[in-house]
Amino acid sequence: MSLTVIVLAAGGGTRMKSKTVKVLHRIGGRTLLDHVLHAVHEVGPTRVVTVVGTQGEQVAAHVSKTYPDTSLAHQPVSTPGGPSVAYGTAYAVRVAIESLGTLEDGTVLVVTADTPLLQGAALKAFAAEHDAAQRAVSVLSGIVADPFGYGRIVRDADGDVEAIVEEKDATPEQREIAEINSGILAFDAAFLREALPRIGNDNAKGEYYLTDAVQVARDAGLTVGAHVIDDVMQTEGVNDRAQLAALGRELNRRIVDRWMREGVTVMDPATTWIEADVVLSPDVTILPGTQLLGATVVGEDAVIGPDTTLKDCEIGPGARVVRTHGELAVIGPDATVGPFSYLRPGTQLGARGKIGTFVETKNAVIADDAKVPHLSYVGDADIGEGTNIGAGTIFANYDGVKKHRTTVGKGARTGSNNTFVAPVRIGDQAMTGGGTVVRKDVPDGALAVSAATQRNLEGHAERRAAKLEREQVTRETTDPGLGPTDPGAGGS
Ligand code: UD1
Ligand code: CA
Repeated sequence: MSLTVIVLAAGGGTRMKSKTVKVLHRIGGRTLLDHVLHAVHEVGPTRVVTVVGTQGEQVAAHVSKTYPDTSLAHQPVSTPGGPSVAYGTAYAVRVAIESLGTLEDGTVLVVTADTPLLQGAALKAFAAEHDAAQRAVSVLSGIVADPFGYGRIVRDADGDVEAIVEEKDATPEQREIAEINSGILAFDAAFLREALPRIGNDNAKGEYYLTDAVQVARDAGLTVGAHVIDDVMQTEGVNDRAQLAALGRELNRRIVDRWMREGVTVMDPATTWIEADVVLSPDVTILPGTQLLGATVVGEDAVIGPDTTLKDCEIGPGARVVRTHGELAVIGPDATVGPFSYLRPGTQLGARGKIGTFVETKNAVIADDAKVPHLSYVGDADIGEGTNIGAGTIFANYDGVKKHRTTVGKGARTGSNNTFVAPVRIGDQAMTGGGTVVRKDVPDGALAVSAATQRNLEGHAERRAAKLEREQVTRETTDPGLGPTDPGAGGS
């Protein structure tokens, strides 16, 4: 059976007060539209059409990257001062169908693009029920505490849907109805083809209402049913930034809850943020104030946090990452990072390795058992197995024009407060003295020292004290103003 899904996204979302079109705002690491398209794809559609209008180019450019199999239909939109153009959900569906050329027999599912909590399972159950009942139209409805603004579901004595009445067209009694139209509808394709041309715009808003298809079906003696969704938040829309934040928090609560059920320990769900595409393993522990973003993956028994932000990072099993900010970094099994580390893109730390306190890394491949424990910048570097980098080491990768790489071999021990001026290589088992500035390659097994030879001046402290004493005596005898008595204070 053919399933065509039409996603309505032509509205601009003026209440967002944003230069970004509403459906491209993000929660949980995905745009609102991508959350909906994700759910839609779980139903296994034959084809998906997204109707874009206001800032349609922005939306089209985005969808062609995230869901390239989705086709786009462009609905003309009114511009201030310009001619008014046809508007309304029924008109948008017409635009979608025209863009397809022909609409195959089967089922058409219409969904709105601003309901980010929608899940594939709910949509699938709704479509299945619609197909099984062989209805002309089915409405996914919900019972809400405050139905203001929604289309109300008016049922007849048999419980079938008699009408969907929009807020502005509703009588006071109809406004009391708590069952609302979620905006998600299923149609028999043949019926929809016939019904659309019969929908007019003679209503309070002067719009072509898709919900008027209910009346067309009833007039033709066809049945219209409604399927009440239990989890009504799945159909809640975003209209302003406050709702964006509220649904963002709710989405996060659901994601964190799901991972806890999968065996992840989350000490403080309220301060833990996990985006939709993150993947965690059982027995991961997440400490308070942690954000796991993008395509971050964390292996078994790893402990992340407190106060850590990781975006697109891969953390190996058993690793420990404390108070760290990381992006596009790969941390090996049983490695330790932090506290206070800054992992920039291209950081790779091997098994049991260490990136310690106040260490910044970028394009740095640090092998198994290698350690950069304290106060260092490691940029454009390869550090060999088991090597230890001394405290306060700077990998000087930039000569003011170009970036260069530094290689440190295996089993090396470099001193504190070193500077490695790239391009340079420090050999296997090599050592460097404290304060060394390495400008030339250090052969395997060599010790490099560059600081000036230290001289010790014996008896310096005594000589210095004697000199200070002499200077004091000279001052007292030559400058009366600094003398022990004040001539102005009752003197002789
Ligand atoms: C619509 C429903 C209402 C339902 C509510 C749920 C109709 C007539 N009303 O009302 O019963 O309770 O959704 O949120 O369907 N859109 C287009 N092109 C258009 C018009 C709208 O793409 O010409 C898109 C909008 O971008 C939006 C969706 O369709 O994503 C719904 O449109 P909107 O104007 O918000 O409808 P509501 O008045 O909320
Ligand atoms: Ca709406």
